[in-house]
Amino acid sequence: MQPKEIIELLRSEPSLHPVSISGWVRSFRSNRFIALNDGSTIKNLQCVVDFENFEEDILAKVTVGAAIQVEGHLVESQGQGQTVEIQVSKITILGEADPEEVKLTILSPKRHTLEKLREQAHLRVRTNTFGAVMRLRSKLAFAVHEYFQKNGFNYMHTPIITGSDAEGAGEMFRVSGLDPKNPPLDENGAINYKEDFFGKETNLTVSGQLEAETYAMGLGKVYTFGPTFRAENSNTSRHLAEFWMIEPEVAFNDLNDNMDLAEDFIKYVLQYALDNCQDDLEFLENRLLQEEKSKPQSERSEMNLRDKLSFVLDNNFKRVSYTEAIDILKNSKPNKKKKFKYLIEEWGADLQSEHERFLVEKHFKCPVILFDYPAKIKAFYMRLNEDEKTVRAMDVLFPGIGEIVGGSQREERYDVLKSKMKAMDISEEELSWYLDLRKFGTCVHSGFGLGFERLVLFVTGMGNIRDVIPYPRTPGNADF
Ligand code: 4AD
Ligand code: MG
Repeated sequence: MQPKEIIELLRSEPSLHPVSISGWVRSFRSNRFIALNDGSTIKNLQCVVDFENFEEDILAKVTVGAAIQVEGHLVESQGQGQTVEIQVSKITILGEADPEEVKLTILSPKRHTLEKLREQAHLRVRTNTFGAVMRLRSKLAFAVHEYFQKNGFNYMHTPIITGSDAEGAGEMFRVSGLDPKNPPLDENGAINYKEDFFGKETNLTVSGQLEAETYAMGLGKVYTFGPTFRAENSNTSRHLAEFWMIEPEVAFNDLNDNMDLAEDFIKYVLQYALDNCQDDLEFLENRLLQEEKSKPQSERSEMNLRDKLSFVLDNNFKRVSYTEAIDILKNSKPNKKKKFKYLIEEWGADLQSEHERFLVEKHFKCPVILFDYPAKIKAFYMRLNEDEKTVRAMDVLFPGIGEIVGGSQREERYDVLKSKMKAMDISEEELSWYLDLRKFGTCVHSGFGLGFERLVLFVTGMGNIRDVIPYPRTPGNADF
């Protein structure tokens, strides 16, 4: 007997051939109907038991959460909600689940809050919502690779332990092998990192960009897709201390090419989800509709989940310069009525997520790419414009999310880069290898970073970034 997956069985025709299938019990009604799920699909397989012919002590162990194997054959379903079901001839209990203990967990069949599910993150993938989110996450990751591989990019693994601060923002987690209770000290009484494992100070990477640039200067088109770490104390529904970032980097691309790439890439991945994740998207769409019912009419979304994805696919991202955006924001209602927490007074202000969301959700009502930001509020590596005030930066802003992509054309001129680093107090010694790129065949090049979890948030319609990664790391929380 060939065991199969439920997703396959549900697509099969009724047959007299015996089948065998394993999964976890979602429910057992009337001592007759077992809803079995094996994770291959959001749908459960209905297994019908002729209880008069079964040993009672086996049936007693068919409880919510238990792992079982059923044998039987596939018949046309008499009930509603499925076309086929299994007429069970044999049940093997693989792993029991004590109902008294299950009652105390999120496996118990009632509505649990997302916060409660987070506390039991090791069990939450057994719920419909997390099963759907995590299957989508996996599919989206595949689509990311497919897009770049189809388009001639080389997948590059950048180091996780680095000595440099790619963003120059100082938000790094230290990596050290020193004994924290008794570290070696130098003559000034400071910790002597020369005696540490790597003989220098090291940290977890905040971005693979600088290393990706070196490889773009030889392979032409590269991308990274890996974990990145930020020790920023942002306790929001959009920030994680450990998140996955996708960073393409392309030689000879300018900022316009970079914007084209970001838009094309995002659209490809969204289309992939629509084409390949129908059942999970449908479930999440209905979940969202239910959730929205508890909100006042004015706060409810005008579009359902799949319409929102299609809308992004069908429309061009609106490209707007920072300067234009500041004008819009300055004259906007929430600014004039002092509704923004951070009022926009003048050119040069850093945009907060309330401003980004105003532009996207209220003003343009579509994804927006903002470009040419003030040099002062952006990282050292971005290319300085002729005006010497702005840099060739771009951020892609999404409805409900805010910034989903940050990128730029890179400063390829040796002298300009060097003086920018100096002005921003970035160690030339630590980044000499990065400066070298500008000495040996430098050229125009560009890239961006997309926060994978923010993409998963958008596609799944979930509201909190902690609910789209298996084990979220946030300030004060590294459980599991
Ligand atoms: O804008 P960021 O900081 O840009 C960079 O790191 C560049 N080196 C990328 C590049 O040009 N290669 O981060 C890029 C994206 C953001 O737009 C956001 O989507 C995501 O990474 N991101 C986070 N996601 C979750 N939690 C955080 N704390 C994040 N910080 C950034
Ligand atoms: Mg950014």
